[in-house]
Amino acid sequence: MIAVATASQKGGVGKTTLCVNLAYALARRGWSTLVVDTDPQSGIGLSLTRSSRAKAGFFDFIGGGVTFERVVLPSRLPELSILPAGQFDACARRGLPLHEMPTRLGDLLRSAELRGFDCLIFDTAAGLTGLTETVVKASDYVLVPQQAEPLAVRSLPHLLETLARFRGEGAAVKVAGILLTMVMNDEEMSLQVAREVRQLLPKDLLFKQSIPRLPSFLEASTAGVPVALLKRNPPPEAVLFEQIAAELEERIGLMRDRDTHHRHASLLD
Ligand SMILES: Nc1ncnc2c1ncn2[C@@H]1O[C@H](COP(=O)(O)OP(=O)(O)OP(=O)(O)O)[C@@H](O)[C@H]1O
Ligand SMILES: [Mg+2]
Repeated sequence: MIAVATASQKGGVGKTTLCVNLAYALARRGWSTLVVDTDPQSGIGLSLTRSSRAKAGFFDFIGGGVTFERVVLPSRLPELSILPAGQFDACARRGLPLHEMPTRLGDLLRSAELRGFDCLIFDTAAGLTGLTETVVKASDYVLVPQQAEPLAVRSLPHLLETLARFRGEGAAVKVAGILLTMVMNDEEMSLQVAREVRQLLPKDLLFKQSIPRLPSFLEASTAGVPVALLKRNPPPEAVLFEQIAAELEERIGLMRDRDTHHRHASLLD
């Protein structure tokens, strides 16, 4: 199993939108995918899972007292499961110290691996401190959405330095890539920023594909679903996420993993 966390210094850059749409696309491509909401504010899962009244989630598991099986919810797609945030207060009341978080996250990753998930996507709260820092450090890869706006780009070097520091502190997390989000294809300023980022970064660090700013993403996130489920016929931007998922697979070696899986499976034929 490969665990990927999203991370951004700034809030509102499209992390949650990315997690929901990417997890859906990966599941559509046949990977058994778990999307985990580690943001007390965000509320993934309330519409994606039919069991919207399920109260327990990530924070309840992290706080102890509920099993993994109880907090993982099915979605309309058999390959996609959701671990909603649950009750942050319940966890906070238990006063779980931050230094115990890595152990609890380790338990979560092991449970997900045992359940047979191929891929785990962590949605995180903005900033790279506290719980988000712990989640990123526990992940195999970090995926960075980068808003195509001049002010937002300023925080990118700092974010990359922070990730380098995490690695310096012993975390094995690698950068899966930087993905431009909310690109306004009809705004020169936005396109200019996209060009600047492309020039600033080593070519391999940036996803070829980027996410345009489109009303359908806002609409879909308001409804709490991936764009692919917004209408009867998925819009072109749903296909775009299939391409992003394919690019991610290559970047994190999900392909190789599946091949190994198949090779080993053939030993049983
Ligand atoms: N590509 C897009 N086009 C249009 N609107 C978008 C796009 N991506 C995200 N949005 C909208 O922008 C807002 C912020 O997006 P989102 O919640 O995904 O960001 P976030 O990084 O998870 O925010 P937070 O840091 O608060 O968790 C939401 O209202 C969402 O619908
Ligand atoms: Mg969010």
